[in-house]
Amino acid sequence: MKVVLGCDHGGINIKNAIIEYLKENNFEYTDFGCYTEESVDYPVYAYKVATAVASSEDTLGILCCGTGIGISMAANKVKGIRAAVCTNEFMAEMTRRHNNANIIAMGGRIIDEATAVKLADIFLNTEFEGDRHTRRVDMITAIEEGTFEL
Ligand code: RB5
Repeated sequence: MKVVLGCDHGGINIKNAIIEYLKENNFEYTDFGCYTEESVDYPVYAYKVATAVASSEDTLGILCCGTGIGISMAANKVKGIRAAVCTNEFMAEMTRRHNNANIIAMGGRIIDEATAVKLADIFLNTEFEGDRHTRRVDMITAIEEGTFEL
């Protein structure tokens, strides 16, 4: 599995902490920036990460901004992306097990660095359960593709 990361200035602290974790645990990763605390526009980094995840079967994404909200909203506009804002361990686990999320979004002004690393660790090491959850995730895809019928 490969990991791709992106952030804006509001999330660079937690992204850098997560990159240290990825290095220590020998993950293959690509960091799409930003690389400084200079103010930038989060949709740029959401788009880079989301398109990389959407075009690869075996890639998960990590996005960080001030809250995790804006960057996840932007990522979720890319077809095939299920980006989930997570603020605790239960959310990070369940969004893989039940939603088959392919991007976790976190907020550098919401959670501390140790929590962000823990959530990334859970997200990257939890599998989708499939079964009834496949039907529900397929419904999300149908909404995205305009084929959903009640
Ligand atoms: C940037 O100031 C901030 O708006 C951004 O990081 C994020 O929190 C948006 O959702």
